[in-house]
Amino acid sequence: MALIIDGKKISQNIKDELKEEVARLKEQGTNCCLAVIQVGDDPASSVYVRNKKRACEYIGIESKSFELPETTTEEELLKLIDDLNNDDSVNGILCQLPLPKHIDEDKVIKGISPKKDVDGFHPQNVGALVIGEKGFVSCTPAGIIQLLKRSNIEIDGKNCVVIGRSNIVGKPMSLLMLRENATVTVCHSHTKNLKEITKQADILIVAIGKPKFVTEDFVKDGAVVIDVGIHRMENKKLCGDVDYDKVVDKVSAITPVPGGVGPMTIAMLMHNCVEATKMF
Ligand code: GUN
Repeated sequence: MALIIDGKKISQNIKDELKEEVARLKEQGTNCCLAVIQVGDDPASSVYVRNKKRACEYIGIESKSFELPETTTEEELLKLIDDLNNDDSVNGILCQLPLPKHIDEDKVIKGISPKKDVDGFHPQNVGALVIGEKGFVSCTPAGIIQLLKRSNIEIDGKNCVVIGRSNIVGKPMSLLMLRENATVTVCHSHTKNLKEITKQADILIVAIGKPKFVTEDFVKDGAVVIDVGIHRMENKKLCGDVDYDKVVDKVSAITPVPGGVGPMTIAMLMHNCVEATKMF
């Protein structure tokens, strides 16, 4: 029987640990505050932003909300970010992506002070991860490391295959697994013989963005499978990048969708926020 990795429970444990830490900081007179910026009213972004603010409230992190109209100019957004960079009462800044097309996301990511970049997207934090220095790490990959460690899954010396090479998930994920002493292969849309490569994986991390893409013939017996995808099917149910029902009997551990990787992203954002406060 496969271990079904319970991301809901593990993220709850992390949030409870953070709640205690935030209470201790408060006793010492230190407040923890996250600025949350949303431009426009994309429904998916609104759900994410609401959940992030809810998590702040649960943990005792103050959240300052900036809900800006779709018509906000790049200049106005960069000015707000600059003000928040210089505001000592704000520890972390989160600008929900995607941004409207007339705003250059790259400029916005680079505009957030690396010290307040709780998403871990700033080139300085990405660079720190590459060379093994301290810095903020992108929340979804950091959450996956926590899922593995808290499920007592050994990473050291294992063959890890990552499908996907995005800046937010695939690339930082491969660097984190390397930091944990895995042997890492990164696959993407140009990879030849994908199945042959993924079948070598002790740990297979799938962030390809295609519903039920990974079936049993991609997976080695006894592998650990981590599914980053989340898609709404026609019947309104959610599914991942992995065809769970076809794979579950073959693996030693797997993350479900929903309730696997998803809840970890917010927990790690909260973690980064507390770290930003302690660094201050
Ligand atoms: N949009 C989708 N995921 C994320 C995330 O992790 N951070 C931000 N800022 N925007 C997102």
